[in-house]
Amino acid sequence: QTIQWDMQAAQKGGYRHFMLKEIFEQPRVISDGLTGRMNDDKSMVRLAELDDLPVPKRLHIVACGTSYHSGLWGRLLLEHWARVPVQVEIASEFRYRDTLLLDKDDMVLVISQSGETADTLAALRIAKQNGVTVLGLCNVVGSSIAREASAVLYTQAGPEISVASTKAMCSQMLMLTLMALYWGTRKGCLSVEESRNNLQILENLPALLDGSLPAMHERAKEISRKYAQVNNFFYLGRGHCYPLALEGALKLKELSYIHAEGYAAGEMKHGPIALIDPSFPTFALALDDALLPKVKSNMVEVQARQGQVIALTNKGVELDAEDRWDIPALPGPLSAFLALPALQLFSYETADYLGKDVDQPRNLAKSVTVE
Ligand code: AGP
Repeated sequence: QTIQWDMQAAQKGGYRHFMLKEIFEQPRVISDGLTGRMNDDKSMVRLAELDDLPVPKRLHIVACGTSYHSGLWGRLLLEHWARVPVQVEIASEFRYRDTLLLDKDDMVLVISQSGETADTLAALRIAKQNGVTVLGLCNVVGSSIAREASAVLYTQAGPEISVASTKAMCSQMLMLTLMALYWGTRKGCLSVEESRNNLQILENLPALLDGSLPAMHERAKEISRKYAQVNNFFYLGRGHCYPLALEGALKLKELSYIHAEGYAAGEMKHGPIALIDPSFPTFALALDDALLPKVKSNMVEVQARQGQVIALTNKGVELDAEDRWDIPALPGPLSAFLALPALQLFSYETADYLGKDVDQPRNLAKSVTVE
């Protein structure tokens, strides 16, 4: 017992929990993920694994949980930069639907940290039976999905011990970004200049994130103390912040057992806003992007019903919130790489403050190998 404890303490590298260690590993995950992925003048992405595959006419992304949220986020980049139409599906739904939509020129992308998730593996097999190329995006080398896929991209995040997925999502988002840039320039719909600019942002990201994490952690501590006793939470976002809202809510519920719902902010007035009262706070993803004015008006609607708002935003943004949380800004969807750790830290701190078992939440397994 003692030996195991010492081993675990050593593996945690001075952090209280694996989850916290893994959150703080994200700058390294990004720099590792970029290693060898750029051409010599750093203007274009290298993804040798995809060189022999045609650019898909349509892409179906299939995954579960956090990996599904990565897929929802990646869709926006793949559609915007590579002009590839993308559908994103929950694996347990996909596997029982008619596969009418699968065409020989389509590609299925299965995303799975473990590479062993039963529903995702079943979806892969169905796609293969339909004669469709299946690309796997996995973390665990040699896993079932990695072995059975037509081609595999590894996220190289290193072992993720905490049940709650953190650095794996960051690494999946990075690979999806690289795929979108790669296919975009290969098809000629994204200029080399644009590709270079985005790669430059990614290259600078590890240092930016590394420098931002300590202050983010402090702010997460402060805000989580104030809201830890509530029973319900909304997470609202639009555009690329909508998948982040889903992920923020998933993290909060799985770790702290506080009921949390992620919603597309524009859907609030179609029903959910009825729930808002002073005891039901909202975590708004109000980053400085094109959809910010819309998110701000959704925040006003919540406040008009006496709902409290935490706004994750950027310096210089004018808004009214009970608790404002500024993080560094990046252009467009790449700002998600800074918003994601803030959401993770907020859930981590809430759960730890409430005395929950952060690394091993009740009823959950790291890898869901049964249906
Ligand atoms: C999230 O924190 C969970 N660990 C869970 O949703 C996970 O992402 C899901 O089970 C999928 O796992 P996979 O990526 O290994 O397929």
